[in-house]
Amino acid sequence: MVLAITGLFILASLAQATSALPSIFQPRFMIRRSTDDTNTTGVFGPDSKIWGEETPYYAVADYVSPPSSCEIDQVNLLQRHGARYPKKNPTKAMKSAIKKLQKVTITESSMQFISNFTYDLAEDDLTPYGAVQSFDAGIEAYQRYSFLVNTDSLPFVRASSSTRVVESAGNWTAGFAYGSNSTYEPVLSVIISEDGNDTLDDASCDALSNSDSPGDQESAWIDVYTPNITDYLNSGASGASLDNSDTQYLIELCPYVTVAYSERSEWCDLFSSLGIFPDYEYYGDLDKYYTTGWGQGTLGPAQGIGYMNELLARLTNTPVNDSTSTNTTLDSDPTTFPLNRTFYADFTHDDLLIAVYSAMGLFPTPTLNYTSTDDKETSAWRVDQMTPFAGRMVVERISCSDAYASGEGEYVRVLVNQAVQSMPFCDSDDNDLCSLDTFVESQAFARNSGYGIWDECSD
Ligand SMILES: *[C@@H]1O[C@H](CO)[C@@H](O)[C@H](O)[C@H]1NC(C)=O
Ligand SMILES: *[C@@H]1O[C@H](CO)[C@@H](O)[C@H](O)[C@H]1NC(C)=O
Ligand SMILES: *[C@@H]1O[C@H](CO)[C@@H](O)[C@H](O)[C@H]1NC(C)=O
Ligand SMILES: *[C@@H]1O[C@H](CO)[C@@H](O)[C@H](O)[C@H]1NC(C)=O
Ligand SMILES: *[C@@H]1O[C@H](CO)[C@@H](O)[C@H](O)[C@H]1NC(C)=O
Ligand SMILES: *[C@@H]1O[C@H](CO)[C@@H](O)[C@H](O)[C@H]1NC(C)=O
Ligand SMILES: *[C@@H]1O[C@H](CO)[C@@H](O)[C@H](O)[C@H]1NC(C)=O
Ligand SMILES: *[C@@H]1O[C@H](CO)[C@@H](O)[C@H](O)[C@H]1NC(C)=O
Ligand SMILES: *[C@@H]1O[C@H](CO)[C@@H](O)[C@H](O)[C@H]1NC(C)=O
Ligand SMILES: *[C@@H]1O[C@H](CO)[C@@H](O)[C@H](O)[C@H]1NC(C)=O
Repeated sequence: MVLAITGLFILASLAQATSALPSIFQPRFMIRRSTDDTNTTGVFGPDSKIWGEETPYYAVADYVSPPSSCEIDQVNLLQRHGARYPKKNPTKAMKSAIKKLQKVTITESSMQFISNFTYDLAEDDLTPYGAVQSFDAGIEAYQRYSFLVNTDSLPFVRASSSTRVVESAGNWTAGFAYGSNSTYEPVLSVIISEDGNDTLDDASCDALSNSDSPGDQESAWIDVYTPNITDYLNSGASGASLDNSDTQYLIELCPYVTVAYSERSEWCDLFSSLGIFPDYEYYGDLDKYYTTGWGQGTLGPAQGIGYMNELLARLTNTPVNDSTSTNTTLDSDPTTFPLNRTFYADFTHDDLLIAVYSAMGLFPTPTLNYTSTDDKETSAWRVDQMTPFAGRMVVERISCSDAYASGEGEYVRVLVNQAVQSMPFCDSDDNDLCSLDTFVESQAFARNSGYGIWDECSD
């Protein structure tokens, strides 16, 4: 009963919230696919590119250099921490599902390994593989943007205060130093407390409930896509009496055990053979869409306003103007928020990245819902390609000469996991460059504090 009411409330507030927004923020369709979607084999074998938010980072497209009459003069990186261990509630749920299976006799051969499986993962923290991902990203950042760096101008690095985020930033700076053969050794300059105003976390809005348990849409989807798998598991382990929720958590063992040991887990082979991962990925899409995406109404994207206003400040070399999640003490001090730098690197969480994409207007999507994956075919909203472990957005500021087709001036280009994004919200040109002025103009949602939305956070 309580669940049903909350569900209605979400749908009602979504309809209300989206119709009140300028048309630029209305959900709409856009397809941008640069990869071969039929090849889901990633670094950990079949289906490891479609593990939702637990997908290990991969480049969604090859890097494309800016047009020849243009030069990058500033880079803004916003990166998710590397692969982590499961959080507390999922840990409990995974152990309980394993226990149910281990107390009965397993007769199905593809499930035999479960009898001998020992669950001994840590909680919450960065895994060794997650550290390597962050380190590798640091090397790559140096190699790609070394021309922006000199001893007087090192990347300015900030992190949200979670241990895994701080350690990801630390490993990234170490990778950057390694890539430069220790010529350039950036340091983590600012750790922003997650207990206060924090533009690198999504916890600044009290009214937005945050939880690592499935919401209504996600729970409903679990009951659509898992029953066949639940039946299969129960018939291979008679008496286990698994329910659909158990199945969901058993599927999650695949990515978590894999990134914990840097080796493909047997759980992955079991569930790959059952063909479940495309539907599991859709679970991730729903999860993020209804956490800090537009499925949350406007409060989710509102979490991204603070970072967007910091980004606009950096792109335009002007002080931050924000009344949402920024810490004004930090942002008004040039030692903690310098302007006129060439390279900014910020470390964060997936939910905040989603909020920033949404606030900016990237990945516009039809309303996702639990009844079907049909939307998937037409939607750009793919969490595996948006916020994998160590996922990243790069905003390049680009200076073009008069030889450039769209004219002389400053431009902005946005890459997500290396794929250049088209930006219809600011009329990006054939090279997906948007003039800096137009970009700033297009960010009215952020510049106007989401039109008063932030006030709802304290209601
Ligand atoms: C699929 O992608 C992986 C990783 O990018 C690559 O190694 C593999 O060759 C690809 N397979 C096919 C059949 O294209
Ligand atoms: C489980 O472990 C036992 C004892 O180590 C071993 O005899 C058995 O072959 C193992 N079963 C599987 C399926 O690996
Ligand atoms: C890199 O990450 C690991 C966690 O796997 C952590 O122990 C280590 O301190 C991190 N390194 C730096 C330089 O932060
Ligand atoms: C790296 O630095 C060391 C010591 O400064 C030097 O001996 C070595 O040649 C450098 N390597 C490269 C590839 O530049
Ligand atoms: C702002 O940052 C300062 C410096 O880190 C910190 O002392 C203060 O508690 C923060 N305030 C809020 C509201 O987050
Ligand atoms: C469940 O399995 C049946 C029989 O194999 C199949 O027809 C049906 O489409 C499956 N349902 C789902 C939701 O996958
Ligand atoms: C923290 O955010 C609140 C709400 O936007 C704001 O009123 C307050 O001034 C901020 N505090 C600091 C230190 O920035
Ligand atoms: C940034 O650099 C520009 C050009 O060098 C200069 O005009 C401006 O005053 C600088 N701004 C700050 C805040 O240092
Ligand atoms: C859910 O998605 C289906 C398929 O795209 C669509 O037909 C239906 O109208 C959607 N329902 C809601 C409430 O958005
Ligand atoms: C800050 O933003 C508000 C809201 O858009 C605007 O009214 C105000 O003029 C801006 N302040 C500055 C100094 O640009």
